[in-house]
Amino acid sequence: MTDFLWGGASAANQVEGAYLTDGRGLSNIDLLPHGEDRLAIASGRMPYQEAGPDAFYPSHEAIDFYNHYKEDVALMAELGLNAYRFSIAWSRIYPTGLENEPNEAGLAFYEQLIDELLNYGIEPIVTICHFDVPKGLMDAFGSWRSREMIAQYEKYAVTLFERFKSKVKYWISFNEINMILHKPFTGAGLTIADDENRMQVIYQAAHYEMVASALITKRLHAIDPQAKLGAMLAAGDYYPYSANPEDVRVAQRANQENNFFLDIQGRGEYPRWTEHYFASEGIVLDRSEADFNLLKEYTCDFISFSYYASRASKADTTGVDTNTGNAAGGVVNPYLKRSEWGWMIDPLGLRIVMNSIWDRYQKPLMLVENGLGAKDLVTVDGKIHDDYRIAYLQEHLDVIEETMAEDGIPLLGYTMWSVIDLVSSSSGQMSKRYGFIYVDRDDAGQGSMRRLKKDSFHWFKTYLEEKGLKAK
Ligand code: BG6
Repeated sequence: MTDFLWGGASAANQVEGAYLTDGRGLSNIDLLPHGEDRLAIASGRMPYQEAGPDAFYPSHEAIDFYNHYKEDVALMAELGLNAYRFSIAWSRIYPTGLENEPNEAGLAFYEQLIDELLNYGIEPIVTICHFDVPKGLMDAFGSWRSREMIAQYEKYAVTLFERFKSKVKYWISFNEINMILHKPFTGAGLTIADDENRMQVIYQAAHYEMVASALITKRLHAIDPQAKLGAMLAAGDYYPYSANPEDVRVAQRANQENNFFLDIQGRGEYPRWTEHYFASEGIVLDRSEADFNLLKEYTCDFISFSYYASRASKADTTGVDTNTGNAAGGVVNPYLKRSEWGWMIDPLGLRIVMNSIWDRYQKPLMLVENGLGAKDLVTVDGKIHDDYRIAYLQEHLDVIEETMAEDGIPLLGYTMWSVIDLVSSSSGQMSKRYGFIYVDRDDAGQGSMRRLKKDSFHWFKTYLEEKGLKAK
């Protein structure tokens, strides 16, 4: 028995499918096709097209969690989880974002899901916005370019708080809020023209998101005083490639940019370096005194983060491999192993980043994504021997144990990414599998959707039992 949250994670747009069912409206990710345009659109450099018949949009059906959630939650309970982190699709609740009244069918779906979880003793951890903006708000306001989004987001979040108060204790305002730096369309529904000041658009949108996050923290505390609001960062320290001060300085700078979000959400203040940086880049932001007061007064209750690996920075990248596969950039670290998709693997980096975040903010932490994207093979007798995933998870769990025991860092929970196979965010592939549970569906959208337990499923179940961590 434990209070520690042991869970799995997912995101609405990567699992639910049923993209137009029961009144749901289109969202940014519905417009990301599988194929070569995906990255250009995701990075906001290429305008999205209306979803047409010629392209394949993997999120439209995803793994059909919308219709399989009971079966999937039963599997989570069998696995022994006591937490499930999932996101709510904004456009299920407000189909265009602009409605005055929420879509009851959307709320009812999440209510059934939450009740199903609670019946099994599984704590829901809800991400309010996981790479998710209704297309109606992109059309009306250019998404988070506009201050108007703060009120729209507040309306949406408050609807959730009112409906699910006392059932949901942990809320996360924006998944990987720093993704806006790298993939502004994925992160925040932004498309930025070549002749615009890209960083002006991004930092303005980030400011509005952080004000919105502070505002809903205030609203949540009033509506449900027991509930907690978390910030969420794609974490991983940037290491200097060498002890050359030039490399140390670029790594420091990359860390500052990454910490920008938590500095504001965790400490309530813009970091000082931004003053000179904004001036030198011609960035002029709409920021009011009221915004600053809100940011200062309503910092986050806890810090959640994803951790896949550390990053490395080098001043002179001539002749160095920069193909890290990950949106966070940097260069390839020669000391680390890599996944099939080229992502670094660095278990010790988890201890390093947990210390970095704790030392800087002293807020409780929650690790809400950690896992390995890999190809899985189903044997003729329906088994999946994913020992590589088990090895990855075991190494990271060992590091967490050490970090908590030896460094005394409070961690509220661990939700592995992803409890079940889902559509990869970056590539749109199904073949980049993360789950304990296999889903029979391929990159072209073919397959029976049948669920199978991987070896990692059985391994993690035993891990939880041995640690006495089984769901309460
Ligand atoms: C995080 C996201 O960036 O990483 C998830 O929060 C995503 O949505 C995960 O799926 C893994 O990345 P990918 O691109 O391999 O799916």
